[in-house]
Amino acid sequence: MKNDFVFRMPSKVIFGMGKFDLLPEEVSFFFTKGTVLVVMDPAIKPQVWPRVEKLLAGWKTIPCEIKPGEPTVQTVDKMADFARKEKPDLVIGIGGGSTMDTAKAIAGLITNPGSSEKYRGQNLLTRPAIPGIMVPTTAGTGSELTQTAVLIHQGRKGGINSPHLIPATAILDPALLLDLPMEPTRATGLDALTHAIESFLSKNSNPLTEPISLQAAELLIAGLPAAVSDGKDPEARTKTMLGSLLGGISLANAGVIVGHSLSYPLGARYGISHGVANGLLLPYVAAEILPFATEKLARLASAFGISQGRSAKEEAEEAIKFLFSFEKKIGFQKRLADFQVQPSDFDEMVEEAWAVAVPVANTPKPMTKEDLLRIYQAAY
Ligand SMILES: NC(=O)c1ccc[n+]([C@@H]2O[C@H](COP(=O)([O-])OP(=O)(O)OC[C@H]3O[C@@H](n4cnc5c(N)ncnc54)[C@H](O)[C@@H]3O)[C@@H](O)[C@H]2O)c1
Ligand SMILES: [Fe+2]
Repeated sequence: MKNDFVFRMPSKVIFGMGKFDLLPEEVSFFFTKGTVLVVMDPAIKPQVWPRVEKLLAGWKTIPCEIKPGEPTVQTVDKMADFARKEKPDLVIGIGGGSTMDTAKAIAGLITNPGSSEKYRGQNLLTRPAIPGIMVPTTAGTGSELTQTAVLIHQGRKGGINSPHLIPATAILDPALLLDLPMEPTRATGLDALTHAIESFLSKNSNPLTEPISLQAAELLIAGLPAAVSDGKDPEARTKTMLGSLLGGISLANAGVIVGHSLSYPLGARYGISHGVANGLLLPYVAAEILPFATEKLARLASAFGISQGRSAKEEAEEAIKFLFSFEKKIGFQKRLADFQVQPSDFDEMVEEAWAVAVPVANTPKPMTKEDLLRIYQAAY
């Protein structure tokens, strides 16, 4: 844990059933008239767009639909060119991480010229983005809280990382999750659980993030099984969205560890969804780093409700076993072989994961490329 730290998050986070209806109040906090670009996921646009038009009748609203799948430099550049012509005063993103990352990137590209490719990396945006209001419709990525927009380019995932991308406002309304199908519910829930656990294990965890990570893990363990078996359960949806919020706050401030680096090539090469890739790797990552994270893994056993006063090593081992059994309980028992991942690609994938350097550096075990390879092999 680090006792010197910076803590950032949106200036306003609104959480609660039905809070989507506060959109006009939140927009009017910035502008009482003007142009609002509304970036939406195609799966939810039919329900959401008529509501937005009604709620924001006092503003000029421009709908903008993302392409299905995770955003690429090309698709985002095209949308940014469109947005630069329309000159919006504010960007709203309504959807999962793919939509919010697109909306955040556009908000940054309106004030920073050229292709998004120029800004993939750390702190490369030189001017503040226009204000953004993010509304997640999955309980997973935490993108509504972070300074990151992840974009794929030439088969590689990489983020634009800049404090300028932190949205001004996040509105989290669990009612927006009620129609999310089972598969993305489980996958995005596993992403949120990975944020909770990886941010806790991160070398950059701090006194603010550690309790938040642990509470996120508790909420997700409690809520995800019910949300997966009955998507219409409002209490389960509230728990998972709260877990995702807290995991996202910790992710934004403590960072994540090597599992996220290893998941990027799985998304870019094989189209494995971000949450599935993270969830699949999570227990193997924990097992690989156990000798360097024994105390923290033992503390996770308490958050999982399985602590029995054993030695720290035994508690840590039980925590890892719990992760496998929890994933089985929500019907998730995948290995890399199930996605036709080719072991002959592992060496190149290790190079690509190694290049996602910040999570590798945050990992409590000093990682080598051999360690990364061993995790892929174990998960195969
Ligand atoms: N910016 C960050 O800090 C950050 C953090 C983690 C992940 N990410 C990125 O986020 C992306 C993944 O986001 P995601 O996991 O939320 O998935 P997603 O945005 O791609 O959405 C997953 C699927 O769910 C559908 N969907 C979304 N909301 C729905 C709803 N309410 N009802 C019905 N269908 C709905 C979408 O159409 C899509 O098919 C990846 O590109 C990943 O790299 C970003
Ligand atoms: Fe993630």
